[in-house]
Amino acid sequence: MPGRFLYYTNVLVRLIPEDDYALYLEALAEALPIEVAATDASGRVIVWNGALSRVAGTREQAVGRPLFEALPWLAMDPNLDWAELLEDVLAGGGARTFPRHPLGPRVVRATIGPMVGRGGRVLGSVLSFEDITSGARAAEQRRMRDRTEAVHSLGESLAHEIRNPLNAMSLNLQLLRETLDDEHVERADLVRRAEKALAESRRLEQLITHLLEVSRGGALQLTSARIDPLIAGVVGRLEGFAETHGCRVQVRPGSTRQLSLDTVRIDRAIENVVRNAIEAAAEGGHHVWISTRDDPHSSVIIVEDDGPGIKPQDLSQVFVLYTTGKRGGSGLGLPLAREDLRRHGGEIEAKGRHGGGAQFLIYLPSGDRETSSGTDRGPNFVDA
Ligand SMILES: Nc1ncnc2c1ncn2[C@@H]1O[C@H](COP(=O)(O)OP(=O)(O)O)[C@@H](O)[C@H]1O
Ligand SMILES: [Mg+2]
Repeated sequence: MPGRFLYYTNVLVRLIPEDDYALYLEALAEALPIEVAATDASGRVIVWNGALSRVAGTREQAVGRPLFEALPWLAMDPNLDWAELLEDVLAGGGARTFPRHPLGPRVVRATIGPMVGRGGRVLGSVLSFEDITSGARAAEQRRMRDRTEAVHSLGESLAHEIRNPLNAMSLNLQLLRETLDDEHVERADLVRRAEKALAESRRLEQLITHLLEVSRGGALQLTSARIDPLIAGVVGRLEGFAETHGCRVQVRPGSTRQLSLDTVRIDRAIENVVRNAIEAAAEGGHHVWISTRDDPHSSVIIVEDDGPGIKPQDLSQVFVLYTTGKRGGSGLGLPLAREDLRRHGGEIEAKGRHGGGAQFLIYLPSGDRETSSGTDRGPNFVDA
């Protein structure tokens, strides 16, 4: 340490008036733990600390030479014009800091500022570099890890989303296979089953497109749509599923409003809720009721069942990722439904149903566009 100071003192004596020593040494002492260089007013190196000599050559080679000869990284930096910065600092410009600056093979926190003597005269410049490469690398590794986790959970949701239509497809094919052996079955019935299977395969294709969008962080694909036809579509698709669970699904349509929806996502959200209701009802009274209505600020879908219901303390739990009460369940249906609904400015709530079972309320914001008075509301539940 004394040797180093002596060395600097000698250099400084040669370069500047004795009066200014203190200032220089002060600036130097402050900067010692990081890489520090200082120049005189002509841009020649007068200070070069140990940390800097470990990465950029000895101080003997550096001191007295123009800064950019001693520090060729700066001259070759494609991201910053250091010559211009130095010129500005020496002309009285303020200090500048670059918190994460790529410099050669490293990432540094770089600063450059003037060294100001008595009377405000600029005596030279001070540059400092703090190597933050390892921190930057750790941050990059963290980003990679996050990305891996995102890919992992995308994989799981992909599996989940594909399983629904795939199950429906194989169910329809299975029913088709059974009816093929029955001579009394009408051809029209066979065609109907085959078309249902085809419709599911088309939906699979849509889903994959949708998932690719999601994986790209895709925006909502909003179109003007009504919820009643969406529900009719979902219920139609789940007919075979309800049948095998011995459940009767009744629908009371009551919404006429045009909403701005990403129909693929809303369709999928509704399907997940209705599937759950059918699965629950199969453990109870085998009934599912779906109704819709237009409230002043939102349209509401109510899905109820007479299954075992949800314990009050578990009501919020069902929306937590990977929470499932089913063997082979994924616990993804409701969390994904909620995410899609919230992205529309909507919400989903779980409640107990009077008389036992569960009630799910889905709210979709109106956007305040009513297309008809609502006189076409059906007063009674009708069989789906
Ligand atoms: N209608 C319902 N009645 C009773 N429990 C339900 C109902 N809907 C959802 N749940 C509970 O919430 C859990 C999470 O549902 P979900 O996110 O769709 O995942 P999964 O259906 O794969 O289990 C279900 O496993 C079930 O325990
Ligand atoms: Mg589910």
